[in-house]
Amino acid sequence: MHKTTLITGGAGYIGSHTALTLIDAGQHVLVLDNLSNSCHESIERLEHLAHARVDFIEGDIRDTALLLRLFSHYDIDAVVHFAGLKSVANSVSHPLDYYANNVVGTLNLCAVMARFNVFKLVFSSSATVYGEPAHTPILEDSGTGFPASPYGRSKLMVEQLLTDLALSEPRWSIALLRYFNPIGAHESGLLGEDPNGRPNNLLPCLTQVAIGRIPELTVFGNDYPTVDGTCVRDYIHVVDLAEGHLKALQVLHSDGGLHIWNLGTGIGYSVLQMIRSFEDVTGVSIPFQIAPRRAGDIAQCWADASKARRELGWCARRNLAQMIEDSWRWQSSNPFGYGHAVQLSAALAR
Ligand code: NAD
Ligand code: UD1
Repeated sequence: MHKTTLITGGAGYIGSHTALTLIDAGQHVLVLDNLSNSCHESIERLEHLAHARVDFIEGDIRDTALLLRLFSHYDIDAVVHFAGLKSVANSVSHPLDYYANNVVGTLNLCAVMARFNVFKLVFSSSATVYGEPAHTPILEDSGTGFPASPYGRSKLMVEQLLTDLALSEPRWSIALLRYFNPIGAHESGLLGEDPNGRPNNLLPCLTQVAIGRIPELTVFGNDYPTVDGTCVRDYIHVVDLAEGHLKALQVLHSDGGLHIWNLGTGIGYSVLQMIRSFEDVTGVSIPFQIAPRRAGDIAQCWADASKARRELGWCARRNLAQMIEDSWRWQSSNPFGYGHAVQLSAALAR
């Protein structure tokens, strides 16, 4: 039986790109996803790109009986854990769903892992755990802050839970990967981000304005103490992020304990810079209007990713133009995402 990496949430945006990166690196993966924010089409496209069948189980990380069956049946030796809910706005109206899914779900997963002596875990954390940073760029040891939403606090709680776990038992080998702002898509245009309903994040809003699904972009605030008054973020290509997971897994196979790595580019762009770059790269003009600040936004945030470079031998290689080009290819060849009229054959024909 193959050594297997379990990827929870592997049908989703970052998980599907990571699954492809791991398969391309020769790993055998098993994807577990309840499809609450994704669909089977992403698995079919993953199989097409990987030129292989992908073991996929539709199910929930909170379903202990299912996890026990999976860990009994497959020779799982590491877990990359993406499964969870991620909408900041939705977490404010449904906090219990976020704590149940993100915190209890992780707790459940770790309990089953320990039962089967599986101690290698890569966790999807977020720069949101830093709260309002005192300094930029942000280093891993800057200290965590008070995240502005139940979503952010669920990520911080899981980080604390995993830190305690690593301290309790030396066999645990855990990576907390703090993502900055993932954007972009696979260069084929077949995998990408498919938000449910109206998106909240900047890039999906930009691409949906560009294809006419949203009439204009709302820019939240132009009175921040930044280069042009709009917020600055560290946008990172999703494939670079996926490659960071592969490197983290490789290190966990040789190094125990708890590791924290920022995954960002180290470069910040303002919202207005993003709009201008989008227009330059795509040739599509973006109507926008300035609106008041969005609650919970911080002025600026970008990573110091030198620890990941040093310890993982990883750095982001794709620049902003590539991120925008790939996001735009994905959006224009799949105007309504995965679940609607355009299926694999049609997307391939474009
Ligand atoms: P996504 O919603 O596309 O992927 C998450 C996947 O998990 C979805 O396919 C969903 O169906 C699945 N899922 C949710 N709850 C589940 C459960 N209980 N059991 C099984 N499957 C479940 O999100 P993404 O952007 O790919 O994010 C992946 C992870 O990275 C999440 O944990 C997210 O919080 C974290 N993260 C994302 C970002 C970002 O900007 N996208 C930034 C920082 C951290
Ligand atoms: C948001 C979340 C963060 C989460 C991350 C994951 C908040 C406050 N933070 O980060 O917890 O980890 O997503 O994806 O929601 N913007 C506009 N107009 C838009 C959309 C966004 O001006 O229509 C601006 C925002 O004000 C922000 C920047 O674009 O300054 C980036 O926004 P977004 O993509 O939502 O990411 P974050 O807010 O950084």
